[in-house]
Amino acid sequence: MIDAIILAAGQGTRMKSNKAKVLHQIGGKSLLQHVVDAINPLSTSINIVIGNEAELVKNSINNHSINWVVQKKQLGTGHAVQQVKTGINNKSTCIILYGDVPLISTNTIKLLIDQSHLTGFSILSVTLDDPSGYGRIVRDKNKRVQAIIEHKDADDDKQKINEINTGIMAIRGSLLKKYISQLEPNNKQGELYLTDIVEIAVSDNVTISSLVCDNVSEVMGINNKNQLAEAERIYQQKQANDLMSMGLTIKDPSRFDCRGNLIFGKDCSVDVNVVFEGENELGENVLIAPNCIIKNAKIGNHAEINANSIIENSIIGSHTTVGPFARIRPETEVGNHARIGNFVEVKKSTIGDKSKVPHLSYVGDSSIGQDVNISAGVITCNYDGANKNQTIIEDGAFIGSDTQLIAPITVGKNATIGAGSTITQDAPSDKLTLSRKKQKTIDHWQRKKK
Ligand code: UD1
Ligand code: CA
Repeated sequence: MIDAIILAAGQGTRMKSNKAKVLHQIGGKSLLQHVVDAINPLSTSINIVIGNEAELVKNSINNHSINWVVQKKQLGTGHAVQQVKTGINNKSTCIILYGDVPLISTNTIKLLIDQSHLTGFSILSVTLDDPSGYGRIVRDKNKRVQAIIEHKDADDDKQKINEINTGIMAIRGSLLKKYISQLEPNNKQGELYLTDIVEIAVSDNVTISSLVCDNVSEVMGINNKNQLAEAERIYQQKQANDLMSMGLTIKDPSRFDCRGNLIFGKDCSVDVNVVFEGENELGENVLIAPNCIIKNAKIGNHAEINANSIIENSIIGSHTTVGPFARIRPETEVGNHARIGNFVEVKKSTIGDKSKVPHLSYVGDSSIGQDVNISAGVITCNYDGANKNQTIIEDGAFIGSDTQLIAPITVGKNATIGAGSTITQDAPSDKLTLSRKKQKTIDHWQRKKK
C-alpha cells in the first residue's frame, strides 16, 4: 500500500500573485496536477494538504478520489503532515511530495519507494552547485544520514554542504506517525519542520537510506516566476524530445510549446513558435507553418496550416489548406481538399469537400456544401442584434466578391451570386441572382479642388 501526501497549503509569497502557488501552470497544467499525475500510477491513496485558496485548489484537480486535508494555519511542513490523521496507514509506505516540486517523475518516486523498503525510511537528495535556501543533508564520517538542517538554521560549516533535501521522502506509515508527533518548533522560523523527523528517527536507531537524484530539474522547487519560466522550458524541451523520438519533425525544439497532448501520424512537421493547447490530433504528413495556435483540433492527412493561423475546437479535413492568417473558431468542420485562405474567419460552420474560401471573408453559423466558391470579401451576416441566424449554401454555388448574405438565407445548388450583392432572400438553384444598381456615368461632373 502506498499513501501519498502532497503538501500544498502555502501561499507562495515569492510568486507575488493573488493565486495560490500550486495553481500556477507549466505546460498548461497546474503545478499540483503535475505532482498528482506523477504519483497517481503508484499510489493507493492521495492526501493533499491545502490551506491558501483551498476551494480553488480543490476544484482545480482532475482526480476524484483525493482525500483533501485542510491546514488552517501554515505552521510548517511537519504541522502540515500532522493534519493528515486518517490518511496514514501503519503498514503502508507514505510518500511525501511537495506541490511546488512539479517535475518529479513517476520513475524517480518508484525508485525511492523501492529503496525505502530496505530500512523503512528513505529521502531523496540532490547535489547542487548553489545549495542556498535548501535544507542540507548532514552525514556522519561513515556517510550515514544524521539530520536535515534548514538553511536558516545552518552554521557556516553546514551551509557549505551541497547535498540538499528535495523534500521528497518515503517512510513506513507507523514510523511517520510516531515521529511527527514528537516534532517541536525549536528553530529560527518557529515552525514544525517535517525534516526534523530524520534526526528523531536516527536517535530511534532507524537507518535512513538516501537516493541521490541525478536529474536536478526533476526536483527543482518553484518559488518565484523566474523558476516557473525555467521549469516551463525544461518541461517543453523534454516534451519536444519525446515527440521527436516518436517521429515528429520539430524545426526548433526551443521554440516549441505543447500545453496538453499531441497525437500525430508519420511525417508531420511543426515549424517555429507553434503553440498546441489541449488535445490535438494530426494525421499523416501534416505541415504546420510558423506562429500557429492549434487548440483541441483534429487535422487530416496532408493538410497544410499556413503561418499565423489559429484553429480552435475544430476539424480540418485531409489535403485541405488553411491560412496564412486564418482564424478557425470553435465548432467548425472543414472537409477534404478544401481551402481556407488568408484573413478568413470561420465560426461554427461546416465547409464541404473541395470548397474554397480563399480571401478576406467571414463565415459564421453556416453550412456550405461541396465545390462551393466563396470569392473575396464575402460576409455571412449571421447576427441581427439579438439572434444568430443560419446561412445555407448548397453544392456548387458561386458567391461573387464583396457579397453580404443576410441570414437566415439559403443559396441553392449551383446558384451564382453576382459580385457586390446584398442578398436578403433565398437565391434559387442554377440561376444568377444579384442585387446591384445599374452603373451610370455623370458627364460634366467636376471633382472639388482645394
Ligand atoms: C522545504 C524543506 C527543505 C527542502 C525544500 C525543498 C522543510 C522544513 N524544509 O523548504 O529542507 O530543501 O523544501 O524544496 O520541510 N507547506 C504546507 N504547509 C506549511 C508549510 C509548507 O503545506 O505549513 C507546503 C508548501 O505549500 C510547499 C511545501 O510545503 O508546497 C514546501 O514548503 P516551503 O515553505 O516551500 O518549504 P521550503 O522552505 O522550500
Ligand atoms: Ca519550496
